[in-house]
Amino acid sequence: MVIKKVTDYEELSKKGAQFIAAQIIMKPNCVLGLATGGSPVGTYQRLIKAYQDGSISFKDITSVNLDEYKGLDGTHPQSYRYFMNTNLFDHVDIVKENTYLPDGLEPDSEKACTDYEAIIDGVGGIDLQLLGLGHNGHIGFNEPNTVFEKNTHCVELTQSTIDANTRYFNSSDEVPRQAYTMGYRGILSAKKILVLVSGSAKASILAQVVNGPITPEVPASILQLHPDVTIIADAEAAALL
Ligand code: F6R
Repeated sequence: MVIKKVTDYEELSKKGAQFIAAQIIMKPNCVLGLATGGSPVGTYQRLIKAYQDGSISFKDITSVNLDEYKGLDGTHPQSYRYFMNTNLFDHVDIVKENTYLPDGLEPDSEKACTDYEAIIDGVGGIDLQLLGLGHNGHIGFNEPNTVFEKNTHCVELTQSTIDANTRYFNSSDEVPRQAYTMGYRGILSAKKILVLVSGSAKASILAQVVNGPITPEVPASILQLHPDVTIIADAEAAALL
């Protein structure tokens, strides 16, 4: 694991965007694994700027996102499809048909997950997977568990994740209780992984992820096994490293 410590969220976003832009420049038709949440927003803003000033193009990029709430339509403001459209896709020249997320409106969980596995295989492998880190160590919606779940699956969100995501809804009751998420196979098969971690609330879990045992109780600890992981952490998040 390469750990880059930066001063603050601004610096983290700048470095994150440079990392992704470099990948796009090296391979303009690459497959990007993307994440939602607060951590990558600043990075996406800088990528949009880089597109606007002509430094990069997304026209040949394919993207596969980590996860989607079960039951939310892509036009729902809290759906991850809506997040990706408004925070990145609507502002760059990516072809929307080449952007994939699990189908939140598919009520049959088994079908939704099998379909997404086929998509992950169909895009021919993820070149760079971007991740945020949950307060409980989750990546995607792979919550602390007794096993590492290999494939895309339907998860019951933990109370800690529901609490963390309540800020985006009117009340905690509105937060969906289930989500479809890529499993460890999809994430770990990426050639490169970039993790963005910001804020003091992530310091303790980040220290466990980097220096603790590899255990499904700390989902991101499995990243220790991947040969090409870069973590960009701001000073608050890196305080215990
Ligand atoms: C988002 C995702 C989640 C977030 C994580 C951190 O697609 O899969 O694992 O990356 O919950 O969220 P933030 O960045 O909001 O702290």
